[in-house]
Amino acid sequence: MIYGMGAGPQPRPVSLRCRFCYDARMAITIHGAGCALMDYLYSNVDFTHDVVQGLLRRKPGDGGLTIGGLVFAEALERFAGRKIDAILESIVGSREANRENVGGPAIVSLIHTAQICEEADVRFFGAVGDDEAGRSLRAIAERTPLDVSRLAVRPGATAATYVLSDPDYADGHGERMFVNQLGVAADLSPEDLGPDFPRADIVQLGGTALVPRLHEAIPRLLREARAAGALTVVNTVYDFRAESSRPEERWTLGSDEAYPLVDLLIADAEEALRLSGCDDAAPAVSWFLGRGTGAAVVTNGPGPVAFGAGSGRFAECGVGSRPVFTEFAKREEVRSAGGDTTGCGDNFAGGLVAGVASQLASRGPGVRVDLDAALRLAIASGAFCLTHLGGTWLEEAAGEKAARVASIRGEYERIHGGRR
Ligand SMILES: Nc1ncnc2c1ncn2[C@@H]1O[C@H](COP(=O)(O)OP(=O)(O)OP(=O)(O)O)[C@@H](O)[C@H]1O
Ligand SMILES: [Mg+2]
Repeated sequence: MIYGMGAGPQPRPVSLRCRFCYDARMAITIHGAGCALMDYLYSNVDFTHDVVQGLLRRKPGDGGLTIGGLVFAEALERFAGRKIDAILESIVGSREANRENVGGPAIVSLIHTAQICEEADVRFFGAVGDDEAGRSLRAIAERTPLDVSRLAVRPGATAATYVLSDPDYADGHGERMFVNQLGVAADLSPEDLGPDFPRADIVQLGGTALVPRLHEAIPRLLREARAAGALTVVNTVYDFRAESSRPEERWTLGSDEAYPLVDLLIADAEEALRLSGCDDAAPAVSWFLGRGTGAAVVTNGPGPVAFGAGSGRFAECGVGSRPVFTEFAKREEVRSAGGDTTGCGDNFAGGLVAGVASQLASRGPGVRVDLDAALRLAIASGAFCLTHLGGTWLEEAAGEKAARVASIRGEYERIHGGRR
């Protein structure tokens, strides 16, 4: 079956089985909310040009552009005294972005889960603005099996990240600058998600640090999901707001009340250290488990993944680590994609949730999930993301990505085996 542009979520062919479960099949519903945006990449921007130089920050927190860092569009507008469109035009002229794609840890991860786990009915709850970016985001999402029927349109701008890249900067090493526009995500509230949001087998909050009102409400949203019997998942994103307003303080998931309400926490190393205050991934995993989180997984790019499960919905296992598929990263199909790691973490999270969902589907919702088995699917998913530019990969036909990821998982397991 071919996915059609703008055709809405496509039903999957009945004959296609999930590659990751073996027994009777049960539909698992997954509801997700959090960061969904459009990524726009502008390459070959000259950072030494007067216009760019005039927009660079003079002191921390003044809202100016930061080489190698991220600034919020709203802050940059105040700094420059102009709207973001005018600022971008002064930098890149009237040219279109070299690349645009759906980004954001919630939607990218949910799309991946929907693509590789046939048992999962995956629905995204959120909003886009009434602009071109919002139409593009929906059109791309509709070419995937993700259900976006609960993606509302609100007056205002769609959340977006503008990536400016200068390959010649720093003596040819290259540098990038990021501008994030919160847009309608700035005001999205828990009420906007509606009463159905907590009613699912799995409820996932992704990258809410870029959706401030949802982030503050994490404990409440998780409590409601737990009360409705859901397995709860939180996958994090770099918390630029906390970083700029309270750089010395430990980051939070709304408050520390969130931790015992999280069944599965997924963070990259930098995020995990900032949330826990620990100085390494393994102690951070122990710290999360010590606060009552069911299972925690901390990624570290090409480095090993730290993980542990203490209680609740996951079978107990000590704190351990697993190598990622570094051998895969040396392959030609990865090299020809230019080593782009955008979205690896989001696809890793989507693979982990798919692994959890497939265990619930095949072994029943009361099963205690085998975290290490789900991790192997996550690692294969992170590796597959290295083969394409950007975090969202569109299938030509349903089941295509599931087959590719299944084969990568098989190869990984042949090299790295089971639990270590
Ligand atoms: N070079 C690599 N080789 C093999 N696997 C990789 C590599 N880089 C990333 N991955 C896979 O992706 C996972 C997540 O990567 P990483 O820790 O960089 O996430 P992240 O920082 O959240 O990324 P992003 O937020 O950009 O999506 C890793 O645990 C690994 O499984
Ligand atoms: Mg990430």
